[in-house]
Amino acid sequence: MEITLSAIKADIGGYVGHSSSHPDILKRAEEELAQAKKQGMLIDYHVTRCGDDLQLIMTHQQGEESEKVHKLAWDTFVECTNLAKKLKLHGAGQDLLADAFSGNVRGMGPGVAEMQFTERQAETIIIFMADKTASGAWNLPLYKMFADPFNTIGLVIASNMHSGFTFEIHDVKEHKKIRLSSPEEIYDMLVFLGAPGRYAIKAVYHKDTGEIAAASSTDRLSMMAGRYVGKDDPVCVVRSQGKFPAVGEILEPFTFPYIVEGWMRGSHHGPLMPVAVRDSNPSRFDGPPRVIAAGFQLADGKFIGPRDLFDDPAFDEARHQANVIADYLRRMGPFEPHRLPLEEMEYTTMPEVMKKLAPRFEQI
Ligand code: F6R
Ligand code: MG
Ligand code: MG
Repeated sequence: MEITLSAIKADIGGYVGHSSSHPDILKRAEEELAQAKKQGMLIDYHVTRCGDDLQLIMTHQQGEESEKVHKLAWDTFVECTNLAKKLKLHGAGQDLLADAFSGNVRGMGPGVAEMQFTERQAETIIIFMADKTASGAWNLPLYKMFADPFNTIGLVIASNMHSGFTFEIHDVKEHKKIRLSSPEEIYDMLVFLGAPGRYAIKAVYHKDTGEIAAASSTDRLSMMAGRYVGKDDPVCVVRSQGKFPAVGEILEPFTFPYIVEGWMRGSHHGPLMPVAVRDSNPSRFDGPPRVIAAGFQLADGKFIGPRDLFDDPAFDEARHQANVIADYLRRMGPFEPHRLPLEEMEYTTMPEVMKKLAPRFEQI
């Protein structure tokens, strides 16, 4: 059975501040998607949240970039924004950059990860969602899952994965894309992937069959609005088991709380902490950045699940390390590299301070 899975997310208002989402908002989104399911537009849906981001996870048979499904997501975000305004939640409608829907939510503020595939006998899917970080945050874990034999032993000892994977990488500034093949081209690939502010993995394909293995949101809010309007808080869908990495190989990269952009005022580096959904409430210095993982089996497009995959004591040590790293970085206060380089900061007073002090600058 041919299925399209669409994960579309937006921050339409935070509770309290930017730390989490209000339960009434989730309920309203559920009602909207339940209606669409009843009308036959969706096969199934799951509504959740990561921090202050509302996540609409949907299956349907309308294909990728479907106007109908994107409009449903947009209208749901608008409905929820109206409620957020009523509740006076913080930053109501912050990610809805356009005034009206025009065909596709791409470029309008929400983040989108979509993939179309033929559902396997057993279709295992993991959806990663992050808050207080940016779209390139998936580069490191996706590289480890699909290209690093020290992470994914299947690349070495499972014959259905031994040929490797193809990566589609997007240059988010120049709006160009390239496909590179692992393992032959990993040295070229890492030149790009190691600079996640500019190059982000959009999709990964199984090389032997060409089947889609992973898809992520690479939407950069700042590029759309021409100014910083918040971090992109990305989402990523990964297929698992069989010819794809096992659940444990897919989760393993998150045992290392690697450093991402985001955190307080979208202007800092901090460790990415893997947490259960209930703990995705970034509140310490508005962070540290969080990632959740929702696992499903699909049954004719129906979601069996989720299993809250980071709700596991095996990730306690990563959480502990993330807290140690957070303490360490916080001691740098307003200094780089805790604070982001000038051009990457979401907030800055540089232009006004520069203007004020310009007359006092002397040539040296
Ligand atoms: C970061 C984030 C928060 C806010 C901060 C200030 O992505 O969402 O750290 O930047 O709480 O928020 P405002 O300017 O809305 O008061
Ligand atoms: Mg917010
Ligand atoms: Mg957010």
